[in-house]
Amino acid sequence: MNQTLETLQNLRSIHGNFSERDISEQDLRTIIEASLRAANASARQGYSVIVVEDRDTMKKLCGYAGSKGLVFCADLTRIAAIAKHLNHPFDADGVPQFITSAVDAVLVAQTAVIAAKSLGIDSLITNGIHRGDMERVFTLLNLPEKHCFPVIMVVFGYPTKEPDHRQERWNGAGVVHYGVYHPLTTAQAEEMVRKYDDPEAHLGLSDTWKPKRLAHYWDWFFTVWVGSFAKATGKSQMAQILERIGFLFP
Ligand SMILES: Cc1cc2nc3c(=O)[nH]c(=O)nc-3n(C[C@H](O)[C@H](O)[C@H](O)COP(=O)(O)O)c2cc1C
Repeated sequence: MNQTLETLQNLRSIHGNFSERDISEQDLRTIIEASLRAANASARQGYSVIVVEDRDTMKKLCGYAGSKGLVFCADLTRIAAIAKHLNHPFDADGVPQFITSAVDAVLVAQTAVIAAKSLGIDSLITNGIHRGDMERVFTLLNLPEKHCFPVIMVVFGYPTKEPDHRQERWNGAGVVHYGVYHPLTTAQAEEMVRKYDDPEAHLGLSDTWKPKRLAHYWDWFFTVWVGSFAKATGKSQMAQILERIGFLFP
């Protein structure tokens, strides 16, 4: 295996327990410079990255704190400003513009995660910025009024302890389709349910479902986890904000 593949195979999330150890300014610069090499639509870089260094602010933003936090925004305000400056019409509104910019932003985020890992720095990708009252994110980061949406945050740092297992991936039926799409058969669904129930497989998010007398991991996922998650995320607020900033038409 070459070094790049090894780095990819070693990717993992640190769920919030980062140590007080800081990552160096040089490493931060290297991570950011590498991340900006990600592909982007129309070479316009429809994103911006906000570096958060204050741990309290990180916590307020996403619920987690490490050495550095980067917020990756789908952002067309810079391009809109250039268009205005040169007196060109530029329509930054609408879902296609949002999707394209969000893809740009996510590619930068994941590239930063990989670059960091290659330097021995761990990370947590989190959508904690979308939980609770999302207006705090706009206020804390002084985000522009239009065409800038915080898509994802990544917290970087060093772990306080090693995770006790590697989170595996389902690589069975339904993930990769050759030629055309192949819907899950009943037998494949049963196999998937069985595999996720195996604690040694480390496929599920948590094994806290077992003492709850549920039959399967996926019973916990759909009844307990999805329910709590839906309540914690401001779904309708997100839609309102996307309308206000021009990325979604009412
Ligand atoms: C969009 C997104 C949001 C996530 N949000 C959180 C989060 O808020 N808290 C958390 O502990 N992990 C979060 N994660 C990390 C996932 O739980 C983690 O990637 C997954 O369980 C696989 O584990 P691994 O990354 O260690 O392989 C998030 C990951 C993604 C891609």
